[in-house]
Amino acid sequence: MATNMVKEQKISTSVLVIGTGGSGLRAAIELAELGVDVLAVGKRPRNDAHTSLAAGGINAALGTMDEEDSWQQHAADTIKESYYLANPHTVEIVARGAARGIEDLERYGMGFAREEDGRISQRFFGAHKFRRTAFAGDYTGLEIQRTLVRRSEQLDIPIMDSVYITRLLVKDNQVFGAYGFDINTGTRYLIHADAVILAAGGHNRIWRRTSSRRDENTGDSFRLAVDAGARLRDPELVQFHPSGIIEPESAAGTLISEAARGEGGVLRNALGERFMERYDPIRKELSTRDRVALAAYTEIKEGRGTEKGGVWLDVSHLPRKTIMERLPRVYQTMLEVQMLDITREPIEIAPTAHYSMGGVWVKPEDHSTEVAGLYAIGEASSGLHGANRLGGNSLIELLVFGRIVGQAAAKYSASLESQPRSAQAIAQARGEIDGLLAADGDENVRALQRGIRDMMTEHAGVVRDEDGLKAGLAKLAEIEERMESVGIHPDIAGYQDLAHAFDLMGSALAARATLEAALERRETRGCHNRSDYPETDPEFRVNLVWSPSTGIVREEIPEVSEEIRELIQEVSTVGKLVE
Ligand code: FUM
Repeated sequence: MATNMVKEQKISTSVLVIGTGGSGLRAAIELAELGVDVLAVGKRPRNDAHTSLAAGGINAALGTMDEEDSWQQHAADTIKESYYLANPHTVEIVARGAARGIEDLERYGMGFAREEDGRISQRFFGAHKFRRTAFAGDYTGLEIQRTLVRRSEQLDIPIMDSVYITRLLVKDNQVFGAYGFDINTGTRYLIHADAVILAAGGHNRIWRRTSSRRDENTGDSFRLAVDAGARLRDPELVQFHPSGIIEPESAAGTLISEAARGEGGVLRNALGERFMERYDPIRKELSTRDRVALAAYTEIKEGRGTEKGGVWLDVSHLPRKTIMERLPRVYQTMLEVQMLDITREPIEIAPTAHYSMGGVWVKPEDHSTEVAGLYAIGEASSGLHGANRLGGNSLIELLVFGRIVGQAAAKYSASLESQPRSAQAIAQARGEIDGLLAADGDENVRALQRGIRDMMTEHAGVVRDEDGLKAGLAKLAEIEERMESVGIHPDIAGYQDLAHAFDLMGSALAARATLEAALERRETRGCHNRSDYPETDPEFRVNLVWSPSTGIVREEIPEVSEEIRELIQEVSTVGKLVE
């Protein structure tokens, strides 16, 4: 397609938010409430951003069900379950700010599930000491997303729904905007902004079985940040959720919410054994995600799985009312994809790549990166989850840091005395798209993406080892070479093929960072199971910070405060370590 037919629009704003899921919209709302000019762009319709898939709940120590709960205990549970890789400052900020996050949502009109006397209901999620997860059925993310969209519309925040950002514009390590194109029309956008908030998700779509849809979490945030000069922290720490559906292949990995276990669902292997009794006899199905995922993986690997390579999650013994009121999405999803009635039959599940616990390196206080004016937030960022995320912590992180980062970006924008510009940076961004549109090789970007997903599944899944990771890197090098010969073919339907090409670039970078960091982390910790290093090694109680130019640098983690440390309860590791 001739590039001279393509229009370019110039837009100026004070703060550009890339990503219109929960964190992006919450930051945009804060900016608009402060009277700051903000523009939010996303590559999916705003009501269908990835946050809308989040199911089971959002954490805050409200004490509505268990009065003894406190923000300190929430922080202690989070740090413990991060296997001490979470940054304690980040954790304290989130745990302290969580109640305010819920209040904000209530103020915007969010409909939480409530007890008869009006208290917000809170359910158990794995590894929380108390019932702390507030919810809206198992549609919590959808309800949050709708609430934030409604509030954004009340504030007249401009939101563009089909913009793919291809490059951040940077001069002398200071961001001054971004470049991108419209996925439907191909119109280019040159967006000038004082500050940019990157809220475009993580990289869990680079595995074959994943809870993300085709164009979500393909690693775009990682590539944008790294190309701008930022670094990634702990990209190898990816949460595999225990329960993704197995079939049909087109929906493989779709999440069955942890709420199913929280409400009393049980896991059984093909022999009918309630296998969590062996792996975590006390907490059983309410154990941590990493343990339940590893247990399911082990059952399948050792031949006690179903013929299709799964285990059973059964909620059919629960009262029908519980299922209809508390698990309506699971009920509907299973009817839709398999015509299976969960009030009568168990669900066949297996671990699914679910969440990037690592991400762009940010400062705990305000989520600024090492590039002036660039912030990262939500799944794009890092610091809260360490080696195992507590279910329900991702949604509260969006609310807490959305507010904080909005304020920080506003302050930064107001502090600027001049706005940098670089014709060279803009020319590079334009040239990158021109180059891809002119590419007419015989390699197909979708097939190469599939190659990355197959490779990551085979070599960097729930259990890893050195030989496998090295073999993964060798395969990745071949894919990277083939990427030189892609052909890009926008058609009458739009520029999706160009978007896939950028997704592929993001996925390749994210895969490289993940494999290299996974190779370096020679220990087993949380989600990262190394069969050749089955012990947790105190030497690796560090974050691994990666960039293409520096490789991996170890970063010390600050000490946990005494107040929080005293609340941390050790639990048995029986059944945790790889045999
Ligand atoms: O299982 C779930 O509902 C997922 C929740 C989360 O990832 O926080």
